[in-house]
Amino acid sequence: MMGGRREGPLMRNPSHSSAKSRILMAVAIGISLGCVFAFLYPHGFFSYSAPAFHSRRSQIVSTKCESSERLNELKTEYRIASEKNAELIQQVKELTEKLRLAEQGKDHAQKQVEALGGPFGTVKGLRTNPTVIPDESVNPRLAKILENIAVQREVIVALANWNVKDSLEVWFASIKRVGIPNYLVVALDDKIAEFCESNDVPVYKRDSDKAIDSIGRTGTNHAVSGLKFRILREFLQLGYSVLLSDVDIVYLQNPFNYLYRDSDVESMTDGHNNMTAYGFDDVFDEPPMGWARYAHTMRIWVFNSGFFYIRPTIPSIELLDRVAGHLAREPKSWDQAVFNEELFFPSHPGYEGLHASRRTMDFYLFMNSKVLFKTVRKNARLSKLKPVIIHINYHPNKLERMKAVVEFYVNGNQDALKGFPDGSDW
Ligand SMILES: *[C@@H]1O[C@H](CO)[C@@H](O)[C@H](O)[C@H]1NC(C)=O
Repeated sequence: MMGGRREGPLMRNPSHSSAKSRILMAVAIGISLGCVFAFLYPHGFFSYSAPAFHSRRSQIVSTKCESSERLNELKTEYRIASEKNAELIQQVKELTEKLRLAEQGKDHAQKQVEALGGPFGTVKGLRTNPTVIPDESVNPRLAKILENIAVQREVIVALANWNVKDSLEVWFASIKRVGIPNYLVVALDDKIAEFCESNDVPVYKRDSDKAIDSIGRTGTNHAVSGLKFRILREFLQLGYSVLLSDVDIVYLQNPFNYLYRDSDVESMTDGHNNMTAYGFDDVFDEPPMGWARYAHTMRIWVFNSGFFYIRPTIPSIELLDRVAGHLAREPKSWDQAVFNEELFFPSHPGYEGLHASRRTMDFYLFMNSKVLFKTVRKNARLSKLKPVIIHINYHPNKLERMKAVVEFYVNGNQDALKGFPDGSDW
Protein backbone atom coordinates (compact mmCIF):
# COMPACT_ATOMS: atom_id res chain seq x y z
CA MET A 1 0.00 0.00 0.00
CA MET A 2 1.54 3.31 1.06
CA GLY A 3 5.23 3.86 0.76
CA GLY A 4 5.97 1.03 -1.64
CA ARG A 5 8.53 2.38 -4.09
CA ARG A 6 7.68 0.90 -7.42
CA GLU A 7 9.28 1.63 -10.74
CA GLY A 8 8.70 0.53 -14.28
CA PRO A 9 11.15 -1.96 -15.76
CA LEU A 10 12.83 0.77 -17.77
CA MET A 11 13.54 2.86 -14.76
CA ARG A 12 14.94 0.01 -12.74
CA ASN A 13 17.89 -0.59 -15.02
CA PRO A 14 18.70 2.43 -17.13
CA SER A 15 22.01 1.15 -18.51
CA HIS A 16 20.44 -2.09 -19.66
CA SER A 17 17.59 -0.22 -21.26
CA SER A 18 19.82 2.25 -23.06
CA ALA A 19 21.91 -0.59 -24.50
CA LYS A 20 18.71 -2.23 -25.60
CA SER A 21 17.41 0.94 -27.16
CA ARG A 22 20.71 1.37 -29.02
CA ILE A 23 20.34 -2.09 -30.49
CA LEU A 24 16.73 -1.36 -31.35
CA MET A 25 17.82 1.89 -32.99
CA ALA A 26 20.44 0.08 -35.09
CA VAL A 27 17.93 -2.56 -36.19
CA ALA A 28 15.38 0.12 -36.97
CA ILE A 29 17.86 2.13 -39.03
CA GLY A 30 18.76 -0.97 -41.00
CA ILE A 31 15.17 -1.89 -41.69
CA SER A 32 14.17 1.63 -42.62
CA LEU A 33 17.14 2.16 -44.93
CA GLY A 34 16.29 -1.12 -46.63
CA CYS A 35 12.68 -0.09 -47.06
CA VAL A 36 13.55 3.33 -48.42
CA PHE A 37 16.08 2.00 -50.93
CA ALA A 38 13.70 -0.74 -51.99
CA PHE A 39 11.11 1.94 -52.60
CA LEU A 40 13.29 4.51 -54.35
CA TYR A 41 15.30 2.02 -56.39
CA PRO A 42 13.12 -0.98 -57.07
CA HIS A 43 15.52 -2.24 -59.75
CA GLY A 44 18.58 -2.04 -57.61
CA PHE A 45 20.58 0.91 -56.38
CA PHE A 46 23.68 0.64 -58.61
CA SER A 47 22.14 -0.36 -61.95
CA TYR A 48 19.72 2.56 -61.70
CA SER A 49 21.82 5.42 -60.46
CA ALA A 50 25.26 4.88 -61.96
CA PRO A 51 24.44 5.46 -65.65
CA ALA A 52 22.34 8.49 -64.79
CA PHE A 53 25.24 10.17 -63.03
CA HIS A 54 27.63 9.18 -65.79
CA SER A 55 25.55 10.67 -68.56
CA ARG A 56 24.99 13.83 -66.57
CA ARG A 57 28.65 14.39 -66.06
CA SER A 58 29.43 14.06 -69.78
CA GLN A 59 26.81 16.63 -70.59
CA ILE A 60 28.12 19.18 -68.15
CA VAL A 61 31.18 19.90 -70.26
CA SER A 62 29.19 20.59 -73.46
CA THR A 63 28.30 24.29 -73.09
CA LYS A 64 28.60 26.88 -70.36
CA CYS A 65 24.89 27.70 -70.37
CA GLU A 66 23.94 24.08 -70.14
CA SER A 67 26.39 23.43 -67.35
CA SER A 68 24.96 26.10 -65.08
CA GLU A 69 21.54 24.67 -65.77
CA ARG A 70 22.84 21.23 -64.82
CA LEU A 71 24.42 22.69 -61.72
CA ASN A 72 21.07 24.06 -60.64
CA GLU A 73 19.43 20.74 -61.31
CA LEU A 74 22.03 18.99 -59.23
CA LYS A 75 21.55 21.50 -56.45
CA THR A 76 17.84 20.82 -56.49
CA GLU A 77 18.43 17.09 -56.42
CA TYR A 78 20.83 17.53 -53.55
CA ARG A 79 18.27 19.56 -51.64
CA ILE A 80 15.57 16.97 -52.21
CA ALA A 81 17.94 14.22 -51.13
CA SER A 82 18.80 16.05 -47.90
CA GLU A 83 15.15 16.62 -47.19
CA LYS A 84 14.50 12.94 -47.73
CA ASN A 85 17.38 12.18 -45.40
CA ALA A 86 15.96 14.34 -42.62
CA GLU A 87 12.59 12.70 -43.15
CA LEU A 88 14.22 9.31 -42.92
CA ILE A 89 15.95 10.13 -39.65
CA GLN A 90 12.63 11.29 -38.25
CA GLN A 91 10.98 8.07 -39.43
CA VAL A 92 13.67 5.97 -37.79
CA LYS A 93 13.15 7.86 -34.54
CA GLU A 94 9.42 7.26 -34.68
CA LEU A 95 9.90 3.63 -35.59
CA THR A 96 12.24 3.10 -32.64
CA GLU A 97 9.71 4.62 -30.28
CA LYS A 98 6.97 2.42 -31.78
CA LEU A 99 9.10 -0.69 -31.40
CA ARG A 100 9.76 0.10 -27.79
CA LEU A 101 6.13 0.85 -27.05
CA ALA A 102 5.13 -2.33 -28.87
CA GLU A 103 7.49 -4.30 -26.70
CA GLN A 104 6.12 -2.80 -23.53
CA GLY A 105 2.60 -3.12 -24.85
CA LYS A 106 3.13 -6.82 -25.47
CA ASP A 107 4.10 -7.16 -21.85
CA HIS A 108 1.03 -5.25 -20.69
CA ALA A 109 -1.22 -7.16 -23.05
CA GLN A 110 0.11 -10.45 -21.74
CA LYS A 111 -0.61 -9.38 -18.18
CA GLN A 112 -4.11 -8.32 -19.20
CA VAL A 113 -4.85 -11.66 -20.80
CA GLU A 114 -3.56 -13.43 -17.72
CA ALA A 115 -5.82 -11.24 -15.58
CA LEU A 116 -8.82 -12.14 -17.75
CA GLY A 117 -8.21 -15.79 -16.94
CA GLY A 118 -8.48 -15.06 -13.21
CA PRO A 119 -11.57 -14.97 -11.01
CA PHE A 120 -14.38 -12.48 -11.53
CA GLY A 121 -13.45 -9.01 -10.29
CA THR A 122 -9.69 -9.38 -10.71
CA VAL A 123 -9.43 -7.64 -14.09
CA LYS A 124 -7.64 -4.31 -14.00
CA GLY A 125 -7.10 -1.77 -16.77
CA LEU A 126 -3.75 -0.10 -17.26
CA ARG A 127 -2.81 3.03 -15.37
CA THR A 128 0.93 3.06 -15.68
CA ASN A 129 1.93 4.27 -19.12
CA PRO A 130 5.45 3.47 -20.38
CA THR A 131 8.10 6.10 -19.78
CA VAL A 132 9.67 7.96 -22.71
CA ILE A 133 13.23 7.36 -23.91
CA PRO A 134 15.38 10.00 -22.21
CA ASP A 135 16.70 12.54 -24.71
CA GLU A 136 19.65 14.42 -23.26
CA SER A 137 20.01 16.64 -26.30
CA VAL A 138 16.94 18.55 -25.10
CA ASN A 139 19.02 20.21 -22.42
CA PRO A 140 22.48 18.74 -21.75
CA ARG A 141 23.26 21.18 -18.96
CA LEU A 142 20.11 20.30 -17.04
CA ALA A 143 20.75 16.61 -17.73
CA LYS A 144 24.13 16.93 -15.97
CA ILE A 145 22.58 18.61 -12.95
CA LEU A 146 19.85 16.01 -12.66
CA GLU A 147 22.33 13.16 -12.96
CA ASN A 148 23.91 14.46 -9.79
CA ILE A 149 20.89 15.24 -7.66
CA ALA A 150 18.02 12.96 -8.73
CA VAL A 151 17.33 9.79 -6.77
CA GLN A 152 15.84 6.93 -8.80
CA ARG A 153 15.23 9.46 -11.58
CA GLU A 154 12.95 11.52 -9.35
CA VAL A 155 13.30 15.10 -8.21
CA ILE A 156 11.35 17.82 -6.43
CA VAL A 157 11.27 20.97 -8.59
CA ALA A 158 10.25 24.48 -7.57
CA LEU A 159 10.30 27.66 -9.63
CA ALA A 160 11.28 30.79 -7.78
CA ASN A 161 12.07 34.43 -8.35
CA TRP A 162 13.13 37.05 -5.85
CA ASN A 163 9.51 37.85 -4.93
CA VAL A 164 9.13 34.56 -3.07
CA LYS A 165 12.50 34.61 -1.32
CA ASP A 166 11.08 34.50 2.22
CA SER A 167 8.79 31.54 1.56
CA LEU A 168 11.57 29.78 -0.31
CA GLU A 169 13.79 30.07 2.74
CA VAL A 170 11.25 28.27 4.95
CA TRP A 171 10.63 25.80 2.10
CA PHE A 172 14.22 24.64 1.69
CA ALA A 173 14.88 24.71 5.43
CA SER A 174 12.06 22.20 5.85
CA ILE A 175 13.39 20.03 3.03
CA LYS A 176 16.88 20.03 4.54
CA ARG A 177 15.47 19.25 7.99
CA VAL A 178 13.74 16.14 6.65
CA GLY A 179 16.91 15.17 4.77
CA ILE A 180 15.54 15.08 1.24
CA PRO A 181 18.51 15.15 -1.16
CA ASN A 182 16.74 15.25 -4.53
CA TYR A 183 15.34 18.73 -4.97
CA LEU A 184 16.09 21.60 -7.31
CA VAL A 185 15.16 25.25 -7.50
CA VAL A 186 14.66 26.65 -10.98
CA ALA A 187 15.84 30.21 -10.50
CA LEU A 188 13.99 32.77 -12.59
CA ASP A 189 16.33 35.65 -11.75
CA ASP A 190 19.97 36.09 -10.78
CA LYS A 191 19.31 37.27 -7.27
CA ILE A 192 17.37 34.18 -6.28
CA ALA A 193 20.02 31.98 -7.94
CA GLU A 194 22.72 33.62 -5.83
CA PHE A 195 20.55 33.31 -2.75
CA CYS A 196 20.21 29.55 -3.36
CA GLU A 197 23.91 29.11 -4.00
CA SER A 198 24.84 30.93 -0.81
CA ASN A 199 22.52 28.59 1.09
CA ASP A 200 23.79 25.38 -0.53
CA VAL A 201 20.49 24.83 -2.27
CA PRO A 202 20.68 23.01 -5.62
CA VAL A 203 19.76 25.57 -8.24
CA TYR A 204 19.34 25.61 -11.97
CA LYS A 205 19.50 28.96 -13.67
CA ARG A 206 17.79 29.07 -17.04
CA ASP A 207 19.70 30.39 -20.04
CA SER A 208 18.91 34.07 -20.14
CA ASP A 209 18.61 34.05 -23.93
CA LYS A 210 15.55 31.84 -23.86
CA ALA A 211 12.62 34.05 -24.80
CA ILE A 212 10.10 32.50 -22.44
CA ASP A 213 12.25 33.42 -19.50
CA SER A 214 11.56 37.12 -19.61
CA ILE A 215 8.21 36.11 -18.12
CA GLY A 216 10.02 34.57 -15.18
CA ARG A 217 11.91 37.72 -14.28
CA THR A 218 9.09 40.18 -14.56
CA GLY A 219 5.98 38.05 -14.48
CA THR A 220 3.02 37.94 -12.19
CA ASN A 221 2.22 34.72 -10.33
CA HIS A 222 -0.08 33.52 -13.06
CA ALA A 223 2.35 34.21 -15.88
CA VAL A 224 5.03 32.27 -14.03
CA SER A 225 2.59 29.38 -13.75
CA GLY A 226 2.36 29.14 -17.54
CA LEU A 227 6.13 29.12 -17.79
CA LYS A 228 6.21 26.28 -15.28
CA PHE A 229 4.59 23.82 -17.68
CA ARG A 230 7.09 24.61 -20.43
CA ILE A 231 10.06 24.19 -18.15
CA LEU A 232 8.69 20.97 -16.70
CA ARG A 233 8.53 19.43 -20.15
CA GLU A 234 12.31 19.38 -20.39
CA PHE A 235 12.60 17.41 -17.16
CA LEU A 236 10.19 14.79 -18.50
CA GLN A 237 11.96 14.62 -21.85
CA LEU A 238 15.17 13.96 -19.98
CA GLY A 239 13.38 10.98 -18.46
CA TYR A 240 12.80 12.25 -14.92
CA SER A 241 9.68 12.09 -12.80
CA VAL A 242 9.05 15.46 -11.22
CA LEU A 243 7.36 16.32 -7.98
CA LEU A 244 6.43 19.89 -8.82
CA SER A 245 6.26 22.03 -5.72
CA ASP A 246 5.15 25.57 -5.00
CA VAL A 247 7.29 27.30 -2.39
CA ASP A 248 4.48 27.99 0.10
CA ILE A 249 4.85 24.41 1.28
CA VAL A 250 6.38 22.96 4.44
CA TYR A 251 7.86 19.46 4.24
CA LEU A 252 7.44 17.30 7.34
CA GLN A 253 8.36 13.92 5.82
CA ASN A 254 9.93 12.71 2.59
CA PRO A 255 7.11 12.67 0.03
CA PHE A 256 8.86 10.07 -2.12
CA ASN A 257 8.06 7.51 0.58
CA TYR A 258 4.35 8.16 0.10
CA LEU A 259 3.81 8.06 -3.64
CA TYR A 260 2.02 5.29 -5.51
CA ARG A 261 3.67 5.95 -8.90
CA ASP A 262 0.89 4.17 -10.76
CA SER A 263 -0.49 7.15 -12.67
CA ASP A 264 0.67 9.79 -15.09
CA VAL A 265 -0.33 12.48 -12.61
CA GLU A 266 -0.59 12.07 -8.86
CA SER A 267 -1.72 15.30 -7.27
CA MET A 268 -2.67 16.88 -4.00
CA THR A 269 -6.24 18.09 -3.82
CA ASP A 270 -7.98 21.32 -2.95
CA GLY A 271 -10.70 19.14 -1.38
CA HIS A 272 -11.24 19.03 2.38
CA ASN A 273 -12.99 15.70 3.05
CA ASN A 274 -13.55 12.32 1.45
CA MET A 275 -16.27 13.55 -0.86
CA THR A 276 -14.70 16.73 -2.12
CA ALA A 277 -11.22 15.26 -2.39
CA TYR A 278 -12.06 11.95 -4.01
CA GLY A 279 -15.25 12.65 -5.93
CA PHE A 280 -18.96 12.27 -5.34
CA ASP A 281 -22.36 12.15 -6.98
CA ASP A 282 -23.88 15.59 -6.67
CA VAL A 283 -27.59 15.22 -7.34
CA PHE A 284 -29.21 18.12 -9.13
CA ASP A 285 -32.92 18.50 -8.42
CA GLU A 286 -35.36 19.83 -11.00
CA PRO A 287 -38.89 19.28 -9.58
CA PRO A 288 -40.83 20.25 -12.75
CA MET A 289 -39.36 17.12 -14.36
CA GLY A 290 -41.50 15.03 -12.01
CA TRP A 291 -40.44 11.39 -12.09
CA ALA A 292 -37.07 12.38 -13.53
CA ARG A 293 -36.48 15.35 -11.22
CA TYR A 294 -33.03 14.10 -10.12
CA ALA A 295 -30.04 14.47 -12.40
CA HIS A 296 -26.80 12.98 -11.16
CA THR A 297 -23.59 14.94 -11.63
CA MET A 298 -19.97 14.02 -10.99
CA ARG A 299 -18.03 16.41 -8.83
CA ILE A 300 -14.52 16.58 -7.50
CA TRP A 301 -12.55 19.46 -6.03
CA VAL A 302 -9.70 20.44 -8.32
CA PHE A 303 -6.22 18.97 -8.28
CA ASN A 304 -3.77 21.46 -6.87
CA SER A 305 -1.42 22.44 -9.67
CA GLY A 306 1.08 23.65 -7.09
CA PHE A 307 1.95 20.18 -5.85
CA PHE A 308 1.80 17.17 -8.14
CA TYR A 309 3.94 14.23 -9.17
CA ILE A 310 4.20 13.70 -12.90
CA ARG A 311 5.79 10.69 -14.59
CA PRO A 312 7.75 11.03 -17.86
CA THR A 313 5.16 9.55 -20.21
CA ILE A 314 3.59 10.64 -23.48
CA PRO A 315 0.23 11.56 -21.88
CA SER A 316 2.08 13.59 -19.23
CA ILE A 317 4.00 15.55 -21.84
CA GLU A 318 0.81 15.99 -23.83
CA LEU A 319 -0.81 17.42 -20.70
CA LEU A 320 1.98 19.95 -20.22
CA ASP A 321 1.79 20.97 -23.88
CA ARG A 322 -1.96 21.29 -23.78
CA VAL A 323 -1.92 23.39 -20.63
CA ALA A 324 0.86 25.63 -21.97
CA GLY A 325 -0.95 25.99 -25.29
CA HIS A 326 -4.26 26.71 -23.60
CA LEU A 327 -2.67 29.36 -21.36
CA ALA A 328 -1.02 30.96 -24.38
CA ARG A 329 -4.36 31.12 -26.22
CA GLU A 330 -6.22 32.42 -23.16
CA PRO A 331 -3.68 34.38 -21.12
CA LYS A 332 -6.29 35.53 -18.64
CA SER A 333 -7.29 32.03 -17.60
CA TRP A 334 -6.14 30.55 -14.31
CA ASP A 335 -3.52 27.87 -14.79
CA GLN A 336 -4.99 25.58 -12.12
CA ALA A 337 -8.42 25.62 -13.76
CA VAL A 338 -6.83 24.91 -17.16
CA PHE A 339 -4.72 22.10 -15.71
CA ASN A 340 -7.86 20.43 -14.36
CA GLU A 341 -9.97 20.96 -17.45
CA GLU A 342 -7.31 19.40 -19.64
CA LEU A 343 -6.96 16.48 -17.24
CA PHE A 344 -10.64 15.72 -16.68
CA PHE A 345 -12.89 16.77 -19.54
CA PRO A 346 -13.79 13.77 -21.73
CA SER A 347 -13.67 13.72 -25.49
CA HIS A 348 -16.79 15.11 -27.09
CA PRO A 349 -17.81 16.49 -30.48
CA GLY A 350 -15.12 18.88 -31.62
CA TYR A 351 -12.84 18.04 -28.74
CA GLU A 352 -10.39 15.27 -28.07
CA GLY A 353 -9.79 14.77 -24.39
CA LEU A 354 -6.51 13.77 -22.81
CA HIS A 355 -6.08 10.14 -21.83
CA ALA A 356 -3.90 10.47 -18.77
CA SER A 357 -4.24 8.40 -15.63
CA ARG A 358 -4.78 10.30 -12.38
CA ARG A 359 -4.52 9.75 -8.68
CA THR A 360 -5.57 12.01 -5.83
CA MET A 361 -3.16 12.10 -2.93
CA ASP A 362 -4.35 11.44 0.63
CA PHE A 363 -5.63 14.83 1.79
CA TYR A 364 -4.46 14.27 5.37
CA LEU A 365 -0.92 13.42 4.29
CA PHE A 366 -0.63 16.02 1.53
CA MET A 367 -2.60 18.64 3.39
CA ASN A 368 -3.92 21.96 2.17
CA SER A 369 -4.25 24.85 4.59
CA LYS A 370 -8.05 24.70 4.67
CA VAL A 371 -7.92 21.16 6.04
CA LEU A 372 -5.32 22.24 8.59
CA PHE A 373 -6.98 25.40 9.85
CA LYS A 374 -10.64 24.40 9.55
CA THR A 375 -10.44 20.81 10.73
CA VAL A 376 -7.16 19.30 11.83
CA ARG A 377 -5.93 21.86 14.36
CA LYS A 378 -9.27 21.62 16.24
CA ASN A 379 -9.36 17.84 16.33
CA ALA A 380 -7.34 16.10 19.06
CA ARG A 381 -6.85 12.90 17.05
CA LEU A 382 -6.13 14.47 13.66
CA SER A 383 -3.74 17.05 15.07
CA LYS A 384 -1.52 14.23 16.38
CA LEU A 385 -1.00 12.78 12.91
CA LYS A 386 2.08 13.95 11.08
CA PRO A 387 1.38 15.03 7.49
CA VAL A 388 3.95 14.68 4.73
CA ILE A 389 3.59 18.25 3.52
CA ILE A 390 1.39 21.22 4.28
CA HIS A 391 0.57 23.65 1.50
CA ILE A 392 -0.53 27.13 2.53
CA ASN A 393 -2.61 27.43 -0.62
CA TYR A 394 -5.83 28.75 0.91
CA HIS A 395 -4.35 31.69 2.80
CA PRO A 396 -2.62 34.92 1.82
CA ASN A 397 -0.40 35.40 4.90
CA LYS A 398 1.75 32.49 3.78
CA LEU A 399 4.99 33.20 5.56
CA GLU A 400 3.34 33.62 8.95
CA ARG A 401 1.35 30.42 8.58
CA MET A 402 4.32 28.46 7.25
CA LYS A 403 6.34 29.46 10.30
CA ALA A 404 3.43 28.49 12.56
CA VAL A 405 3.28 25.06 10.91
CA VAL A 406 6.99 24.57 11.65
CA GLU A 407 6.43 25.70 15.23
CA PHE A 408 3.56 23.26 15.68
CA TYR A 409 4.85 20.16 13.92
CA VAL A 410 8.60 20.51 14.33
CA ASN A 411 9.05 22.38 17.59
CA GLY A 412 5.98 20.89 19.24
CA ASN A 413 4.45 24.22 20.21
CA GLN A 414 0.81 23.16 20.70
CA ASP A 415 -0.44 26.75 20.59
CA ALA A 416 1.32 27.77 17.40
CA LEU A 417 -1.71 27.34 15.14
CA LYS A 418 -4.29 28.81 17.50
CA GLY A 419 -4.12 32.51 16.73
CA PHE A 420 -5.20 32.28 13.08
CA PRO A 421 -8.71 32.60 11.70
CA ASP A 422 -10.02 29.66 9.65
CA GLY A 423 -9.98 31.69 6.47
CA SER A 424 -8.40 34.98 5.61
CA ASP A 425 -9.80 38.11 7.27
CA TRP A 426 -10.02 39.91 3.91
C1 LIG B 1 -12.98 8.59 4.57
O1 LIG B 1 -12.41 7.52 3.85
C2 LIG B 1 -11.55 6.72 4.63
C3 LIG B 1 -10.88 5.73 3.70
O2 LIG B 1 -11.79 5.16 2.84
C4 LIG B 1 -12.33 6.05 5.75
O3 LIG B 1 -11.48 5.25 6.52
C5 LIG B 1 -12.96 7.13 6.60
O4 LIG B 1 -13.78 6.56 7.58
C6 LIG B 1 -13.77 8.09 5.75
N1 LIG B 1 -14.18 9.22 6.57
C7 LIG B 1 -15.42 9.61 6.65
C8 LIG B 1 -15.67 10.78 7.55
O5 LIG B 1 -16.32 9.08 6.05
